[in-house]
Amino acid sequence: MSESVTLSFARLTAAPKGVLIVLTDETLAFGAQTQKLLKGADAAITRAFDAERYKGKAWSTIDLLAPAGLDAPRLVVISVGKAGELKPADFLKLGGVAAGKIPSSAREATVVLDLPGAKIGPESASEVALGIRLRTYTFDRYKTKKKDDTERGALAVTLLVSDEAGTKRAVTAADAVGDGVLFARDLVNEPANVLDPPEFARRAEEHLSSVGVEIEVLDDAGLARAGMHALLGVGQGSIKESRVVIMRWNGGPAGEPPVAFIGKGVTFDTGGISIKPAAGMEDMKGDMGGAACVTGLLYALAARKAKVNAVGLIGLVENMPDGAAQRPGDIVTSLSGQTIEIINTDAEGRLVLSDVLWYAKEQFKPKFMIDLATLTGAILVALGSEYAGLFSNDDTLSERLTKSGQETGERVWRMPLGPEYDKLVDSKFADMKNTGGRHAGSITAAQFLQRFVDKTPWAHLDIAGTAMSSPASDINKSWGSGWGVRLLNQLVKDHYEG
Ligand code: BES
Ligand code: MN
Ligand code: ZN
Repeated sequence: MSESVTLSFARLTAAPKGVLIVLTDETLAFGAQTQKLLKGADAAITRAFDAERYKGKAWSTIDLLAPAGLDAPRLVVISVGKAGELKPADFLKLGGVAAGKIPSSAREATVVLDLPGAKIGPESASEVALGIRLRTYTFDRYKTKKKDDTERGALAVTLLVSDEAGTKRAVTAADAVGDGVLFARDLVNEPANVLDPPEFARRAEEHLSSVGVEIEVLDDAGLARAGMHALLGVGQGSIKESRVVIMRWNGGPAGEPPVAFIGKGVTFDTGGISIKPAAGMEDMKGDMGGAACVTGLLYALAARKAKVNAVGLIGLVENMPDGAAQRPGDIVTSLSGQTIEIINTDAEGRLVLSDVLWYAKEQFKPKFMIDLATLTGAILVALGSEYAGLFSNDDTLSERLTKSGQETGERVWRMPLGPEYDKLVDSKFADMKNTGGRHAGSITAAQFLQRFVDKTPWAHLDIAGTAMSSPASDINKSWGSGWGVRLLNQLVKDHYEG
């Protein structure tokens, strides 16, 4: 991970350093403290606003270089629109927009969190801080040459806040979530020659045990003993071993059933014998975005000492074509005892998840299970990169996920399930087959998964469109987005913490 920004906090009355970033609203008003700070520069600011016809439309910005009457080398004004109506996601965005306005040549910047007619409290300030961290993350581990003019050096950003002590406390929790998101991004961005299943498991163990998560790792032999032959079948064409990592955070009452998160972790998906076309195949290093999210989430929950019992399970395999690889027509017996006919070895994610879902249900009797998977190209056709597909057997869980999605900006859209779709994965030779035909591909994939959850409240998030390669946003410039960590952290925080 590369985070070149260090954040600190000071009182609103402290002297600003470096690039000065201030806020306004749609009437071009400034907060009281900002007015004081900008005093000597009033004339320069008015002239600049006029010259640009700057009207303060929400999220519009204006820059003044070396403004007369100020020490600051640059003044940036950001309008938040209607100051009284800002939601947490807006403060996150504000952090992203502010960070984006700091030129890469700058080493110091100050953001004055002061608005006319609205106080910015510690929670909101911590969202701004998180937005800055998420925006400035870059994955440059493999760049041996830095381009001096375009790449950022070390940058110190100070937030001037109304409640310094309160903000520092709120930032501790926001930092835990930010660390989880950035850890997930790192995992998704890492190439598959480096991040294979054993290495993923090793990193999860190293990183999460440091915050008190209990880790158990099943290797090939352990997985065979457990009976996870659907998962092992996917990995058998790879020279890399497969792994299942079980992560437990016990922050809730002893004996209370946990909430469970399950992630697809295909460290590379060639398609196997049903091999994918060459164009774009490099993106399949990100086919472990679900597992990355679950790992980042468990990190975040533990690091902020969430009062919840949570368990994360990730199925890690590499899907390769090889003399030992699984064939179309093969029949495997899953951990559940149900048999699966392999029609297409590229529909591998559901095979991995089927065993991990069953294992999670049997071992932990969880309150609910949520799985995340870059499962189908079809979800991109349906929803693009704006929403993840949500499939669920439980209306309450669905509604809660939808609401958390709106709060965090990591949005989900519910898709249908039903017996007519379920029939499409019946097989001539086995209990089911791993593809459901050309139409409704994301739904038949979800129907397949549902056969492994019984009555447990369950939701499946198809994140093929959101986990990677999604369009750059105010809070993300990285290929791997770390999607889902904030969504599920919010879900836990709002509904499952004692
Ligand atoms: N990992 C892919 C899905 C995917 C596609 C993720 C594009 C991200 C971007 C998955 O394993 C897959 O290959 N699915 C097939 C299923 C089909 C063979 C039934 C697909 O979507 O084509
Ligand atoms: Mn595949
Ligand atoms: Zn896949």
